Amino acid sequence: MQSETVPTQYNHKPRRGDRLTVTIERLDSKGQGMGWVEWPPFGRFQVAVRHAPPGSVVEVEVVRRRGAHVDGKRLEWLDRGPHYVEARCAHFGVCGGCSFQNLDYAEQLVQLRAGVERALSQQEVLGQAVVEPVLGMEDPFGYRNKMDFTFGSRRWVEAGEEEAVEAHFALGLHVPFRHDKVLNIHECSIAFPGAAEIVNSARRLAQARGLTAWDLKQHQGLLRHLVLRQGWHSGEVLVYLVTSEDAHETVLAYALDLVAAHPEITTVVQGVHSGLATVAWGEWDRVLYGTGAIAERLLGAEFSIRPKSFFQTNTQQAERLIEVVREEVSQGPHQVVYDLYCGTGILGLMVVPPGGQLLGFEKVESAVQDAIENAERLGHDRAEFVLGDVLEQLAAGNRPRPDVIIVDPPRVGLHPKMLAALEGLEGQRMVYVSCNVSNAARDLRGLQEQGWVLIRVRPLDLFPHTPHVECVLTLERSR
Ligand SMILES: C[S@@+](CC[C@H](N)C(=O)[O-])C[C@H]1O[C@@H](n2cnc3c(N)ncnc32)[C@H](O)[C@@H]1O
Repeated sequence: MQSETVPTQYNHKPRRGDRLTVTIERLDSKGQGMGWVEWPPFGRFQVAVRHAPPGSVVEVEVVRRRGAHVDGKRLEWLDRGPHYVEARCAHFGVCGGCSFQNLDYAEQLVQLRAGVERALSQQEVLGQAVVEPVLGMEDPFGYRNKMDFTFGSRRWVEAGEEEAVEAHFALGLHVPFRHDKVLNIHECSIAFPGAAEIVNSARRLAQARGLTAWDLKQHQGLLRHLVLRQGWHSGEVLVYLVTSEDAHETVLAYALDLVAAHPEITTVVQGVHSGLATVAWGEWDRVLYGTGAIAERLLGAEFSIRPKSFFQTNTQQAERLIEVVREEVSQGPHQVVYDLYCGTGILGLMVVPPGGQLLGFEKVESAVQDAIENAERLGHDRAEFVLGDVLEQLAAGNRPRPDVIIVDPPRVGLHPKMLAALEGLEGQRMVYVSCNVSNAARDLRGLQEQGWVLIRVRPLDLFPHTPHVECVLTLERSR
């Protein structure tokens, strides 16, 4: 006679230190592996494990539990599963830059698409629209044309290093969940080729000159951020060096050291940020070398980029994004195009037809300056860029009615008042470009109430190895 296996009965819900085995079924919105465990008699718990690919089986230790959700730390692979690949970068797992470099790229695209579908379905805005496959990259490495590195006076000491190592200067990336610590970055698989070499020189040269790194707790130290931007097609490199004070001669000498070591650097701008916020944003800026801007080409058109202007961080995929937006915009009348949150104007300028009218709205002054120059360079004489908060500016002025509205807000999505402002615009077609589909889904719910219907969802992978996905969502007015 066969004996029936009686499942283990627990006398408490999963708690810190418990061990459990979980099969990873999918990725969550943060890019963590996600699976479920039965925990009788308390039911089913959802378990999230960092860097665990779907299809893997892992033994984890419970780090914390909130309700029916458990965060687990991987102790052991029981089976790496069919989608596991070796990560390329030595920093993977410590640095927070990539979430799933150990997941094969084809499966990354499958998982991203499923995430988009889930976010839109949860808000009940998908309707009859189909989420198209995610448009991926042929080579999903070395794609970032911009990297923000941080100087810190507290270096993250890695496992295996001797205890008494020197750790008062670092240049790299913050370690996840330890915002006081900076991991020295010596290589990076997603940054543009050559970026890590500049970072390594910047660290060495700063230390050779005895310069100090910003201390987050003491609020002192000169060097705060090093932002690198490369024109993918032009090869020009911009360095934006954020310091806590002017120290002009010291900073200039350091910048010139860096240029001498890296002739590919075509311009250096210093930003002075004396406030406490950890942002690579000068309260005022000064050009130390070159013109203060770099050139970039998108589908053959030349654009200029200054340190504070938003520019898509993946040039190759930005070209695909423009093509997709252009296809969506041109499905109907598009003589008058509004480009809300336009940055340097790349979307509007590249999609408005010859003789068409473009109105761009943007709050960052240097981006508007770039957009105006870009329009001149491209020969658009009917492009106007309005500087200021888009909500305030839309309410002001007597402007032509748009045929198409492009909306490309920051990650947080639209302010509720913005939804009302859009209702007043009367356009018949909207192309909502989103880098955070959960927030876009929330906005779409509001837009749906105004009579907008989602007709197509076209995701693109602009950020391989991370859970972020760009989505072009096309809406039409039903009434
Ligand atoms: C995601 S970027 C899009 C830029 C542009 N569409 C592109 O593809 O390069 C969002 C832009 O919105 C701008 N922005 C954010 N909040 C704004 C506001 N309240 N009013 C106007 N512009 C805003 C930012 O400065 C940034 O340039």
